[in-house]
Order: sequence, then structure tokens, then C-alpha cells
Amino acid sequence: MTVIKKAVFPVAGMGTRFLPATKATPKEMLPVVDKPLIQYAVEEAVAAGVNELIFVTSSNKRAIEDHFDRHYELEKRLEEAGKDEFLSIVRDVLPKGVSCSYVRQAEPLGLGHAVLCAESLVGSEPFAVILADDLIANDGPLCLSQMVAEYNNKQADCVLAVQEVPEQDTNKYGIVATEQSGRVTYMVEKPKPENAPSRQAVVGRYILSAEVFKALRNTAKGAGGEIQLTDAIAAVLKNQWVLAYEFAGKRYDCGSKLGFLEATLDYALDHPELGQACQEYLQKRFKSV
Ligand code: UTP
Repeated sequence: MTVIKKAVFPVAGMGTRFLPATKATPKEMLPVVDKPLIQYAVEEAVAAGVNELIFVTSSNKRAIEDHFDRHYELEKRLEEAGKDEFLSIVRDVLPKGVSCSYVRQAEPLGLGHAVLCAESLVGSEPFAVILADDLIANDGPLCLSQMVAEYNNKQADCVLAVQEVPEQDTNKYGIVATEQSGRVTYMVEKPKPENAPSRQAVVGRYILSAEVFKALRNTAKGAGGEIQLTDAIAAVLKNQWVLAYEFAGKRYDCGSKLGFLEATLDYALDHPELGQACQEYLQKRFKSV
């Protein structure tokens, strides 16, 4: 059984769809109820066995480093005030035995370029990539845990989380063509619906082999003028087994305002302290319309 120990979190995007909120605050720090998106992503990685977190950051992402660092003054004050519950919330942001490293992407040249920036920290072992703005909820094992199990069961080289999307949305995703076995035979970034090989879209979870770095070094700018991770994986699948995995769970596209609002509502409705009050508020709100 191969344990995936390293996860890369590309957080160097510009977050233009959330401006002005993301002018000085990284998109990944936007909270869904009481936790920033990046913390949900880190918790999912750690639950899957990851113990080395690698963040690919840019100039305005200090808040992410601070979030996963100790905050001694706050901890001391909470301790002195006897606020033990809050103290453990603050201390548990980074679980014990888990380390963080940071590497800068100097320019936002695309997701593929961001992943390539992590090469020296990842080395030659298989690794996960998690896009924190895709929040995936599930009652059972979370998406990356499911993917690690699939990676081992099928002895694949790479696993991509996929989901069926409406035909008119293929131009927002990497789209795969697969064999019956789930093996990816072709993939293309943001095809128009008439050119899409299927409606199976890759969402923000990947398990990748280090071969992807080699391919990324030879990947030219693709869709949108960016260095695309999809193009590098498309090169790798010629000699590696790349598997498309339809995960169990509900995905929220928190990079879009509507997806973010849907996540906020669902997580609030399911929240042990807020759920009841939130439901009552919504009922009242809609009765008055
Ligand atoms: P998006 O396509 O959502 O881009 O990137 P974005 O900049 O974050 O947001 P918009 O579209 O401008 O609103 C997908 C993921 O890839 C990362 C982003 O941080 C996000 O997690 N990314 C993208 C990088 O790290 N570097 C890049 O150059 C591009």
C-alpha cells in the first residue's frame, strides 16, 4: 500500500472572480461558516494520510502562512482567560506531526506552472494536488481518501477526480475521454461543448506521479495563455496509467460566488450549533417573500 505523504496546494491564483474581497485576502482564506477554505482542504489531505503540506503561494498570501503558524500571543491570552475550547481550536489548525513548506510562484502563469514550482519540495514520489476552492463534502471518507484507496486498488500511476458537468460547462474544465476501466485515453482543457470528448470534468483533486513534472517542463502555454496541468497529464497518459475516478460526495465550486454561497448555506444548515437557527431564519425569510 502506497501512502501519499505530500500534498501540493496551489494558492497563487489571482481570485479575480471574488474581487474586491480577494484584493488583499487570498481566496483560499474565505471562510465557509467558521473555517477558511484552505483548512478544509488541509483536513482532507491529513485524513488521507498526508503529513507534508506544500503551499505554492504568491505575494499577497501571507495570511495562509500565518494561519498554519503558531500564534503565541493569542494562545497565551486564551489560556489566561481559561478559554480552553478556543485554545484547542487555534492549536489544532495544524495537526500534530504535519509540516508545512512554502514556495513562491513569482507570476501567475497557470495551474501547471504552479505545480511545477513545487517540484524540488516534492522530489520523485507520487503526490496529491488539492485546489482548495473546490470544496468536497461527503458523509463517508473524503474525496482524497477515496482516491488514495483507488490508486492502490488499481495500481494506477495517476488518479484524477472527475464529475459529470452540464454540456454548456465543458469550457470551464479539463475534460477526459476514458475506457470502460476508467483509464484516461485523452484529455483537453476547456473545450467548447461541440469539441468536448465527454462531459466528464476534472475537479480539484489529483494524485500525480513525478513524471508530470518532466512533462510540465516541456509544456507550452495552452488554453487562456496559461501553462495547463491538463496538457502535462495529457502527455503523461501516453505511457502511464491515468485513472479517472468518479468520487462520492458533493462538490462546491467555491471559486464562483454562487458555489461559495451554496457551500455556506449547506454547511450552516448542517452545523451542530447553527443548523436549527439557520433553517428557522430561511423559513421566515421565504414566508415573507
Ligand atoms: P483558478 O482558475 O480558479 O484561478 O485557479 P484563480 O486565479 O484562483 O481565480 P479567478 O479565476 O481569477 O477568479 C485554480 C487554482 O489554481 C491556482 C489557484 O490559486 C486555484 O487554487 N493557481 C492558478 C495558481 O496557484 N497559480 C496560477 O498561476 C493559476
